[in-house]
Amino acid sequence: MNVVEVQNLHKSYGNRHVLKGIHFEAHAGEIIGVIGKNGAGKSTFLEIIMTLKSFDQGKVRLFGKNIEEAHGAALDELRRNISAVLQPTQFYKSLKVEELLRLFKAYYQSDVSIEQMIADFSLASHRKTYFEKLSGGWKQKVSLAIAFLSKPKLLILDEPTTGLDPHMRQTLWAYIQHYNQKAGGTVILTTHSMDEVERFCDKVMLIENGRTKQFDTVRRIIASGYQSMNDYYLQNVPSSEESVS
Ligand SMILES: Nc1ncnc2c1ncn2[C@@H]1O[C@H](COP(=O)(O)OP(=O)(O)OP(=O)(O)O)[C@@H](O)[C@H]1O
Ligand SMILES: [Mg+2]
Repeated sequence: MNVVEVQNLHKSYGNRHVLKGIHFEAHAGEIIGVIGKNGAGKSTFLEIIMTLKSFDQGKVRLFGKNIEEAHGAALDELRRNISAVLQPTQFYKSLKVEELLRLFKAYYQSDVSIEQMIADFSLASHRKTYFEKLSGGWKQKVSLAIAFLSKPKLLILDEPTTGLDPHMRQTLWAYIQHYNQKAGGTVILTTHSMDEVERFCDKVMLIENGRTKQFDTVRRIIASGYQSMNDYYLQNVPSSEESVS
C-alpha cells in the first residue's frame, strides 16, 4: 500500500491556477525530496497532502484512503499518523522550550523521553528559554523536535534545514535517517539544497509551472547524464527571468 498517492492534482487560489497536474506516490520507508523554484507550488502541495488545504481536481490517497471521502473520526485517524513542520514557524510564543516538549509529549501521548530529545537535538542550553525569544534556526530546531515526538508514520517537512547551521543540519539529517531506518517512517520534504537531495533522498519530484516535470530516483536521474543533482537542477529549471508562468 502506498503511504501517499496523488493523481492529476489541481489547485487554484482565486483565479491563480497554481497546481496544474501533480502525479506523485510515496511508499513506506522512502525519503522523497520535492524541488522546484520559488513559487513552483511545493508548499501548497505539502499542505494539501497533509489535509490542511483543499484542492479542486484530482485524487489524493493517504494510507490507501481517499481523503475527500474521509470525514470526522476517519480524517482524525489519518491525521494522527502524520506530523509536519511547515514554513514559517511562529507559534507557542509564551512557553519555554522544555514546557513545549512536555506539552506535546502529553498531547501525542508519546513515550519518547524528553531528556533524550533534549540531548539528541542539543537543546539543553535553551531548555528554559521562551520560544518567542529564540533565533530563527533555534525555533526550527525545536519545531522539528516536536514533530518527532508523535512518532508519525509520515513526516512532512517544508524546508527543514533552511536557516540551520551546518552542525544542526547534520543533527537533523541524522535524526531523519534514524527515524526512517529504525521506525520505517516515510519522509516527504522540500528543500532548495540539491546537495541534501543527492545525499539523503531516495526519490525526487521536480515541480515546474505547477506540473510534475520529473519524478524518479535520485540514482537514475544522475545516471542519466548529470554530474550531480545541482547540475540536473541548473540544466532543467529555467531561471525566473527566462520562465513563463
Ligand atoms: N494563500 C495563498 N493565496 C494566494 N496565493 C497563494 C497562497 N499561497 C501561495 N500562493 C501562491 O501560489 C504559488 C505557489 O506557492 P507555494 O508557496 O506553494 O510555492 P513554493 O514552491 O513553496 O515556493 P518557495 O520555494 O518560495 O517556498 C505562488 O505563486 C504563491 O504566491
Ligand atoms: Mg514553500
